[in-house]
Amino acid sequence: MSSPSPRHLLSVLDLGPEELADVLRTAASFEAIGEREIKKVPTLRGRTVVNLFYEASTRTRVSFELAAKRLSADVVNVSAAASSVEKGESLKDTAATLRAMGADAIVLRHPSPGAPAMLTRWVDASVINAGDGAHEHPTQAILDLYAVERRLGRLDGLRVGICGDVAHSRVARSEALAFRRMGAEVVLVAPPTMLPLGVDALDCEVSYDLDAVLGSLDVLHVLRLQRERHADPLVPSEREYVQGYGLTVERFSRLPEEAVVLHAGPMNRGIEIAQEVADSSRSLITQQVSAGVAVRMAILYLVLGGTVPAEGEPAEAASGGSA
Ligand code: CP
Repeated sequence: MSSPSPRHLLSVLDLGPEELADVLRTAASFEAIGEREIKKVPTLRGRTVVNLFYEASTRTRVSFELAAKRLSADVVNVSAAASSVEKGESLKDTAATLRAMGADAIVLRHPSPGAPAMLTRWVDASVINAGDGAHEHPTQAILDLYAVERRLGRLDGLRVGICGDVAHSRVARSEALAFRRMGAEVVLVAPPTMLPLGVDALDCEVSYDLDAVLGSLDVLHVLRLQRERHADPLVPSEREYVQGYGLTVERFSRLPEEAVVLHAGPMNRGIEIAQEVADSSRSLITQQVSAGVAVRMAILYLVLGGTVPAEGEPAEAASGGSA
């Protein structure tokens, strides 16, 4: 994994199935660190990670910060709203400033699709995509793989439904690519107005009818209704959206007994997902959040030049033991 040029994570497509499996295995090894009294290893001591966020975030920003700190990296959080971006500074100049101060990795969330890819041309730090517009959110997809594999014991052969506002969802796109890469079948379920142009490129089944697919699913990922990204209403009303595509208690009862529910958050409870479903034991929402720290530790570790530990070997053993 070591390389003289920086390694980036811009898209799920940057990782083949073997590399995704490596990240999941490394994350499993790091998860134990979070259960110790002293939740820290020296793996990235002396390295600097900058979280550069141009959009709001709770889960992704906090879990990247915790992940970097648990690996002993120095961490700086930059929010566009409280930086010189407010005075008109460009992404390029902001990134050059951060690099000049010694950033080894920049974790970027940005409203423009492709912004992390542009950043790789301007800095020699590693760039990790923490969500770029409606394009991709690869670390979310990988942590979802992790949470599902932990619960169901496999990814290959699962049938995964991704339901809702697919067109505006970077999570849906990364998730579909990630599950397909790991051998799962994916069915995208949405009203026609919420499917993106070029949906065929995702190589997934498409359905307009949630009720028709419910009984065949092992996993149902419920997407947030992204009202802030709708220029015009895409459904006649929220009530009609719930009638057609909301995961109500009644629909939940028609999922197979072992099937699990995902939601990347933040949730609109009572719209895309019922309160009782979100809080049920078959919802992996809390497990998704917990997985976020271990998976982002694994991603920072691999991107910044760590070696993949051998099967059964703790990740810290490859890099010098406990702090
Ligand atoms: N799932 C997710 O990206 O959440 P945040 O917007 O809170 O980071």
